[in-house]
Formats: sequence, C-alpha cells, structure tokens
Amino acid sequence: MSAGITGRQGPIAGHIPFHPEVERLLASPPTVFIDGQRVQTRTGSTADVADPSSGQLLWVAAEADADDVDVAVRAARVAFQSGAWTVHMKPADRQRCLWRLAELIERDAEIFGQLDALDCGRPYATVAGGDVPASAEHFAYYAGWVTKLTGRTYPVDPEGMHVYSVREPIGVVGLITPWNYPLLMASWKLAPALAAGNCVVLKPAEQTPLSALHLADLAMEAGFPPGVFNVVTGNGSLTGAALVAHRGVDKIGFTGSVEVAQSIVAASAIDLKRVSLELGGKSPNIVFPDADLERAVEGALWATVGNSGQSCTAGTRLYVHSRIYDDFVSSLIAKASALTHGAGMASVDHDLGPLITSTQLDRVLGWIDSAASSGATIAQGGHQLGGPLADGYFIEPTVLTDVTDDLEVVREEIFGPVVAVMPFTDVDEVIARANDSRFGLAAGVWSTNLATVHEVASKVQAGTIWVNTWGLTAAAVPFGGMKQSGHGREMGEDAIDLYSETKSVWMGWT
Ligand code: NAI
Ligand code: MG
Repeated sequence: MSAGITGRQGPIAGHIPFHPEVERLLASPPTVFIDGQRVQTRTGSTADVADPSSGQLLWVAAEADADDVDVAVRAARVAFQSGAWTVHMKPADRQRCLWRLAELIERDAEIFGQLDALDCGRPYATVAGGDVPASAEHFAYYAGWVTKLTGRTYPVDPEGMHVYSVREPIGVVGLITPWNYPLLMASWKLAPALAAGNCVVLKPAEQTPLSALHLADLAMEAGFPPGVFNVVTGNGSLTGAALVAHRGVDKIGFTGSVEVAQSIVAASAIDLKRVSLELGGKSPNIVFPDADLERAVEGALWATVGNSGQSCTAGTRLYVHSRIYDDFVSSLIAKASALTHGAGMASVDHDLGPLITSTQLDRVLGWIDSAASSGATIAQGGHQLGGPLADGYFIEPTVLTDVTDDLEVVREEIFGPVVAVMPFTDVDEVIARANDSRFGLAAGVWSTNLATVHEVASKVQAGTIWVNTWGLTAAAVPFGGMKQSGHGREMGEDAIDLYSETKSVWMGWT
C-alpha cells in the first residue's frame, strides 16, 4: 500500500450510498481497456487509488508499462488503418456514435458523479450536475462537426488546375489528462480527436482512473469499433512517458504541469510528434471601483476557491483598486470563512472538497508558509482542517495580503484555494503587473466602464478574458493559453484543427 493511504474504504454514515454499478466497478479487478475490452496488463503490476476525502484505499488500478502501452497503440493503429472509423464508416454514422456517447454520459450521470467524487473529492452534486452535462455537451457538440469537416477550393489557376484542400485525421493520438476534473478533461480532448477521425489511447491521471474506464465501456455501448478508444492506466513517469516516447503515436494532447509539458516537448523532438498543451496559470483578476462590488467579491472568491483552487484558470492574483481595497478584502474574508467543506460523497450539500493528495496538501501549505515568512499576512485560513475531516486533505480557503509582486506565491501556480490580494491605482499600472507573468491562461476584469473593460481585454495577455464573470467555458468557445500556459486552443473549431491535418491537392486538367 502506498505511503499515506490507510485502510480500505467501506460504507460511511452520512454519505450517498454507492450506485450498484459503482460497487461493481470498485470490486472489479485492475484492468486497462484495449481493443474494445477490459484486459489485464502483462505484468499484473498495480497502484493504489485513494479517496482524498478520507485518505483511504478506494480501488487498485492496473499500471500499464511500455509493453502494455505498445499493445494499446498497436490496437489503435490497426483500427485506424482498417478505416472502420473513417473511410468505412459514413460521417453520419460516426456522428451518431459520438451523439449516443453523449446520451449515455447523461444516462450515467449518477455513476460518473460518484466515480469522480470518490476519486478526486469534488462534491458529488458538482460533478453530477456540472462536469457530467458539460462532458456530454462536448460529445454532442463535436458529433455535429463530423459531418462538417469540409475543405476548400482555391482558384489559383481555374483553367488548368482544380486545387482543393481536405481535412484528414492525424492518426493515433495519445491523450494525457489530469485529476482535477477527470471526466471533463478527458472529454475536452476525446470528443474533437474522435470527431476528426483519429484513434486514441487515453492515459488518465493515476489518482483518478475510474471515470475514463467507464467511459470506454460506454463507447462500446455507443457502437464505437474496437480499438478506436483505448485507455491505459498508470503513473506519469511509467505509462505516460511510454505513450509520449512511442513512435507509433502521431500526436500527444496533454493537460497538466509545465514541468511534464517540458519533458513531453523534449521527448517529441525525436520524431516531431504533434503536441498540444493546456497548462497552468496564475490568472490575474482585476476589480475597478465602478464594478458591481457584491458580484465582484463573489466572483473573485469562486475564481480562487472553485474546486479548492485546483483549476488551471484559478484567479489567484487579485488586484483590487486601492479606493475599495479594505472593504473588498473584509467582504472576501467574510465569505471565504463561511464556506463549508465535506467529503465528495457527503450527502449534506457543501462548498468545497479536499485537495487531491497529501503531497499536494503539503505543497500548498508550503507555499503559504513561504509567503508568511516573506512578510505576507495570512488574513484568513492557512491551515489544514481538523476534526472529522482531519484524515482527508482539506485546507481552509486562504486570503493573503501585504504581498509584493515578486513573491513566489504571486508568481507560481499554487493549485490550492489561496489568493493574494493586492491594491492598484491606475489602469496602465495594473495591466503591466497582470502581464508580468510567465503564464497567460485567463484573466478577469470587473468594471461597468466600457472603455476600461475594452482596454484591459485588449492589452492583457491571456487566452480567455472574463468580464464581470469568471470561469465560464463552453464546447463552442476556444480555450487555451498564451506564453507558458500552453500550445494551441481546445474547444470550438480550433480543436478540430488541433486534431486534424490539412492536405492540399493540385489536380491538372490534362
Ligand atoms: P502532472 O503534470 O504530473 O500530471 C498530469 C498528467 O501527466 C497525469 O496524467 C500524469 O500521470 C501525467 N504525467 C506525469 N509525468 C509524466 C511524464 N513524465 N510523461 C507523461 N505524462 C506524465 O501534474 P501533478 O504532478 O499531478 O500536479 C503538479 C502540479 O501541476 C499542480 O500543482 C498544478 O500546478 C499543475 N497541474 C495543472 C493542471 C492543469 O489543469 N493545468 C492539472 C494538474 C496539475
Ligand atoms: Mg507530476
């Protein structure tokens, strides 16, 4: 049993009872999903999966090594070459497969809600009512694209040449996803990759493998040909690295840390695999005095504490105009201290779950300590929760003041519910400070003055700007990062481009 994991989790009083299918999945042997079925790995090697709400053992997952990854990649290659998903399947039928998968995700909202609540600690209601419909929306949206993957014609020499372009799938795509929104992060990548006609090998995060495996089961029910959608479980340095290194993989789509992204880019230099990256952030959120302050406080709070801060877009650099700073900070503290915590499967509604692992908890507490020793004031929170939640990885929402722009806590991604609140006095100053970051994923601006809003939206370097709101995403709207927050844009038509190749054809008349 891995360090930190205590005894096996059983039924807990006050928690939502397990759905029978969840019971069955948790009792199932460790398997990966290759060529249309759950199979054991060659070595039988396993890794424990814990419930972060309790620190207890939840499931034992298979750990795929390079040989298992090779079997999965070959299965995907055979499926791709066979044309079962492309040339021998009409686009309208591929579209139906994706649409049916969207419907099956909705049908199994309770099961997915429980699997991700157990695996990653997100409150059940948030997963079942938020991540699940958003995941279904992705498959439904990209189902629509399958019949619209058109090319163009080019009038370069209309009398002698017919010149046109077509969009083709890339081939075999490896998808590596994180643990913070397990089903949703997988869906963001799977839906466009599959719609564009690729065959995929998905490696979910080692902390949260369950929903990916259930999704693969559902893909078979939806009518996907075997080998089109494979899942290998295991940790990053073994299973993930094997997928990245595999010469039979044409592209890697990754969401996670900058460090791992650097290793993926370096490894892909060998065969020049296509790589798209959705990485972290240190998103600035800027509040002007003419904003609707009640909404701005609520927005700034959830920008930071949503999913206990474990969001790539977390608005952790909060710039508040000096004229309203003191009142704003007081309201923020009042709201943050009133938030409630609970286990992912707690039957009583609550706001926040735990962090994913004891390692992440230690890391976040370490950032807070380092800020405090550099002179920051911990105006609210800062500690792990005790009492009945002491065995899980829960942490208080934390508000830091008296911070300077050069502190690590203002420069590095924390991935916990920790916000640094800083005063500013004018627009140019705050835009310069907002842009003084190696990241550029998202930014927020709260103001009722159109000129201010337009100026900030045009000058702040970020892939998404939220005005008088925070955190919204939709399948149709491109999402991704500037600078070290990533390469490429997911969602919308942009994601079709990420997962397809354009071919130009010059056809002479004679
Ligand atoms: P990570 O980047 O190690 O994990 C993300 C995924 O990459 C997982 O599936 C993991 O198994 C895989 N992976 C890890 N090492 C790999 C390798 N050498 N080759 C291929 N795949 C590999 O992130 P981790 O360690 O879980 O979290 C550390 C920090 O990363 C967080 O504190 C946060 O700052 C950032 N992060 C950002 C995310 C985002 O949404 N942008 C999601 C997860 C983490
Ligand atoms: Mg890591």
